[in-house]
Amino acid sequence: MSHVMNTYARQPVAFVRGEGVWLWDEAGKKYLDALAGIAVNTLGYAHPRLTAALTKRIQSGVIHTSNLWRIPDQEAAADRVAEITGLDEVFFCNSGLEATEASIKVARKYGHDKGIAEPAIIVMEKAFHGRSLATLSATGSRKVQAGFEPLVQGFVRVPLNDLESVRQVASHNRNVSAVLIEPIQGEGGINVSRLEYLRGLKQLCDEHGWLFISDEVQCGLGRSGKWFVYQHAGFQPDVVALAKGLASGVPVGACVVGGRAKGVFKPGNHGSTFGGNPLAMTAVVTTIDTIKDEGLLANSATVGEQIIGSLRSHLGSAVAEVRGMGLMIGVELKEPCGELVKHALDAGLVINVTADNVVRLLPPLVMREAEARQVVERLVPLVKAFLDKRAAA
Ligand SMILES: Cc1ncc(COP(=O)(O)O)c(C=O)c1O
Repeated sequence: MSHVMNTYARQPVAFVRGEGVWLWDEAGKKYLDALAGIAVNTLGYAHPRLTAALTKRIQSGVIHTSNLWRIPDQEAAADRVAEITGLDEVFFCNSGLEATEASIKVARKYGHDKGIAEPAIIVMEKAFHGRSLATLSATGSRKVQAGFEPLVQGFVRVPLNDLESVRQVASHNRNVSAVLIEPIQGEGGINVSRLEYLRGLKQLCDEHGWLFISDEVQCGLGRSGKWFVYQHAGFQPDVVALAKGLASGVPVGACVVGGRAKGVFKPGNHGSTFGGNPLAMTAVVTTIDTIKDEGLLANSATVGEQIIGSLRSHLGSAVAEVRGMGLMIGVELKEPCGELVKHALDAGLVINVTADNVVRLLPPLVMREAEARQVVERLVPLVKAFLDKRAAA
């Protein structure tokens, strides 16, 4: 019996080697990866540029120093993150929940600085922000919260894509200091915010002096076809939470601030022992530079459109909906379909099912058209066979 704590329902497969968008298990079986370790492995596996940069960093002997000292790699990474987000200050941490937790702290501090004793944050139904006490309290899923009450106070929940609900909160709650939104909900089932809605939300934030916080831990870093989803809507948020794809597999998170949130955190307000260490920062710099140099934003947009288009034409009305943006794609079935993960593994394809009935595809951004065609060719028969079996039952 394994001593690993039983917090995940794991599939009995272990990947031990990878190259590009391909993985191999212990028995040498080859798989096409359409999940990228849940939106993490931006550059796929064994990308020569990342391997070389990390090897060089390790060989220097300095993989960690401390935030007590200057860290040149962190300065280089922060410059790049500031450039691609269009924001000003970057706090590096080690995971998505830390990035959203820091964002929540920024919103509270911002409220207090304005004289609000008990600041509130508007959050969305079905959103996922992490599993710390504050971030699970912000999360719109009872499954994530159950058993961990009392929840952290100060969150007001509204449905996604419903501006009127936000206006109603604004009309009676003077304590609101921020809106926290995952502009494409990942865990919740690839629920895409309408761009018009995002712009309306931003306008309400401006009217009321609230922070607009974009949790782009899953949908950011090129996955949507642009660096960030808010760039599709054409405005700048005040805070962006990042992690997952930011360092292609090395654990890194970032809370990035600008606009009304600039300067809110002062020395002593936040910290992290590991956050921003030279090893992780080398991975950030290399990931961002490689996305640029290899044109991976455009690739994400075109290959994503290709996958969505062919899934729609092959599956059509047999499924509830095929939706997504760039390489963040969901196929919603009309019934729970968790067993498809196992069927896909048998067929040499790595996928995920989230929100019970949504097949989720988050391939590495280096996936090219020929490989994407293979994803569709492998997935479509599996979904059809599943639906036929259900219809016959
Ligand atoms: C949008 C979003 N925010 C936050 C998190 C939490 O990230 P982590 O698991 O790295 O703590 C996730 C993880 O799935 C996420 O998708």
